[in-house]
Amino acid sequence: MSVPANHLNPPAGLDVARVRADFPILQRTVHGKPLVYLDTAASAQRPEAVIKATDDFYRRLNANIHRGVHTLSQEATDAYEGARDKMAAFLNAPSRDELVFTRGTTEAINLVAQAWLRPRLNPGDEIIVSQMEHHANIVPWQMLCESTGAVLKPIPINDAGELDLDAYHAMLNDRVKLVGMVHVSNALGTVNPIAELARAAREKGIPLLVDGAQSLPHQAVDVQALGCTFFCFSGHKMYGPTGIGGLWAPMEVLAAMEPYQGGGEMIKKVTFERTEYNPPPGKFEAGTPNIAGAVGLGAAVDYLLDLGMDQVAAYEAWLLQAATARLEAVEGLQVVGTAAHKAGVISFTFDDIHPHDIGTIIDHHGVAIRTGHHCAMPAIARFGLPATARASLGIYNTLEEFDVLAGALEQVRDMFR
Ligand code: ALA
Repeated sequence: MSVPANHLNPPAGLDVARVRADFPILQRTVHGKPLVYLDTAASAQRPEAVIKATDDFYRRLNANIHRGVHTLSQEATDAYEGARDKMAAFLNAPSRDELVFTRGTTEAINLVAQAWLRPRLNPGDEIIVSQMEHHANIVPWQMLCESTGAVLKPIPINDAGELDLDAYHAMLNDRVKLVGMVHVSNALGTVNPIAELARAAREKGIPLLVDGAQSLPHQAVDVQALGCTFFCFSGHKMYGPTGIGGLWAPMEVLAAMEPYQGGGEMIKKVTFERTEYNPPPGKFEAGTPNIAGAVGLGAAVDYLLDLGMDQVAAYEAWLLQAATARLEAVEGLQVVGTAAHKAGVISFTFDDIHPHDIGTIIDHHGVAIRTGHHCAMPAIARFGLPATARASLGIYNTLEEFDVLAGALEQVRDMFR
């Protein structure tokens, strides 16, 4: 199992030892072994700065927002709205008011499905999504199709797990009312050429929604440069808390959308005869939101900006390439998803050993990976498989951790011989 020499030197720019020291959970052991956390695509770990910001919110600021004249309420409101400023700037959104907080990517997609697309959909209309989508970017559209008579069509992918661009362009016809596209596939790691796809859709007047859950942690994202109409993301994939994420869309689109849920916070005036709504983003944030979660997300943005997204991307690109070479050197291991442009994810099969057996056994070596269909059954089925094992990486992972994974896999194979 030799590793090519050019894989041995990570790029300068990201001090991984320092990064690792920022994540308290990386100090723990699992089954008496140092934790090797290779499940960041499922949920990233949190740096001290995020944990502290959330803790600090509850200790010093906790109160409801937008509805109190007292000091705590005003400070809590400032903290929540400050997080919106940070997140909007992180995405290079033209306006902070275009950033709607949701529980995460799934809720953001459902918001677009119900509040934007449903009233615009007629029987026979089409929604197209790629074959590599997460269920969150399939099921909401399917539910909509069932109740409106619209049709959901998958754009095929090739054997490397790349989008069939010819098929995509051929499928953009007058009946298509929305393209749903994952930026980085959680199951295969493929990075889709969103700017190119969005340009083609825009030329036909078709909005493109991006599932950005897996791209934001790995690369700088500029929604204006992408040219998409909707961008959805989750805080917990980008080192922030769970239960917070969001939707970006241009103001004219948000303004034309009906509210998703009714309640407090989203109204300007209520009588029994009629209700006047707040302008976006408040119109889409009914009820008390996840205030501490937003504050933690703001801290995650600060943390990533401090590291530098270009440094993050360069380090992870190196690690992905080196780790892939390391794993491919393990006899019997087959990488699933070999796109030319990938980020963060190495899905694989290993002889004919069931991925759940692999995951369970290597957990005893302290190694955490995900096994199964990764909430992307059609993507995995495309390769004739029910499941894969998946190692996914983040800013704190090292090549040495992939050595531990490779060593653990060798022992798994010995057990099955
Ligand atoms: N979507 C998450 C994953 O890829 C849960 O594991």
